[in-house]
Amino acid sequence: MVKPDGVQRGLVGEIISRLEKKGLKIIAIKMLKIPKEVAEEHYREHKAKPFFSSLISYITSGPVISMVIEGKNAIKVVRKLVGATNPAEAEPGTIRGDFGLDLGKNVVHASDSLVSAEREIKLFFKDEEIFDYERDIDAWVYER
Ligand code: RTP
Ligand code: MG
Repeated sequence: MVKPDGVQRGLVGEIISRLEKKGLKIIAIKMLKIPKEVAEEHYREHKAKPFFSSLISYITSGPVISMVIEGKNAIKVVRKLVGATNPAEAEPGTIRGDFGLDLGKNVVHASDSLVSAEREIKLFFKDEEIFDYERDIDAWVYER
């Protein structure tokens, strides 16, 4: 997900481009303003944390771009492209390392496990909004 700050700062194209160039496949994409209840469900693991209410305000503060990204080891690979949670600690070359400064404005979200991904995808997409399609370039992305 490109968070509201990423959208406001005009980073959507750059972020999608990095995912595509890596070889990952976009199988669903949309812009939406996340309803508060959906945001609270999305970040429910952080409900008891002191930053929860500011996190919910942040993520609902404007439209986001939600995506479903497919590829070999997609969770691990996307988390690496995204970088450490705190942009001040994220390595240069990562999205947060290149485009962020503050923990509370860290530009992107990425699911941290297959279980969370499945749960989060259901919050944002209907089945018919997720596309199963072949790409010829995958013959050049993957060793088969
Ligand atoms: P995300 O879920 O957004 O992809 O981020 P993450 O896995 O790298 O980090 P996570 O621990 O899940 O934290 C979720 C988001 O909450 C904000 N945060 N604020 N003030 C704080 O101490 C604090 N810690 C986390 C960040 O926006 C983080 O991305
Ligand atoms: Mg997280």
